[in-house]
Amino acid sequence: MDAREMKVKAAEAALQHVEDGMRLGIGTGSTAEEFVRLLAEKVAEGLKVEGVPTSERTARLCLELGVPLKSLDELPELDLTIDGADEMDAALTLIKGGGGALLREKIVAAASARMIVIADETKLVETLGRFPLPIEVNPFGLAATRIAIEKCAERLGLAGEIRLRRAGESVFTTDGGHFILDASFGRIPDAEALSTQLNSIPGVVEHGLFINLASFAIIAGPSGARTLKAN
Ligand code: A5P
Repeated sequence: MDAREMKVKAAEAALQHVEDGMRLGIGTGSTAEEFVRLLAEKVAEGLKVEGVPTSERTARLCLELGVPLKSLDELPELDLTIDGADEMDAALTLIKGGGGALLREKIVAAASARMIVIADETKLVETLGRFPLPIEVNPFGLAATRIAIEKCAERLGLAGEIRLRRAGESVFTTDGGHFILDASFGRIPDAEALSTQLNSIPGVVEHGLFINLASFAIIAGPSGARTLKAN
């Protein structure tokens, strides 16, 4: 089974949890896109759902495939969000934001009664941090915010390159008009402590650590998909 097939397996298993009439948060990334394709098939067959997309990219795909969309202001309370992740540990703490949509993803997940994470098994790690942590920052005061992040990392014994995300020749800009700093800490032994520290920096809009948001994960490997509950 190749990587794409594993993503499809996870997306198929997640679709089993979607019921008629649900208000759905719809994630961003290649795994979430497989879910959107399968969801669109069910919608074409008559399934009634309303989706809130977590990015402009996801919104475009949903519109193209005929998945009905609402804004989060129209549907501020959701039944279920299905989204991918860049990394997750056994407690279902996630790193998200590789696709740059972490702010909307976190707002949508927090507005949902349940969140199911879909991923292939390569995303499962013992300790988070191999994947650089995306930190969404306000463009104003970028240098000061970067220094504050470095100092906060130092206090927690973390070190590593903090790189401004680029898109070709330009600086990458999120759907909300912010920048992203990708922090290569290597290991994040205490995600809660780091989250608290980052949230206390004024220039940090949000970060990609998702703590206590995932209800369970569907992990696909060569032998199929399995459900992982937080330990
Ligand atoms: C988007 O900002 C991310 O949080 C994605 O959910 C994450 O990057 C997973 O993407 P893939 O499914 O493409 O690995």
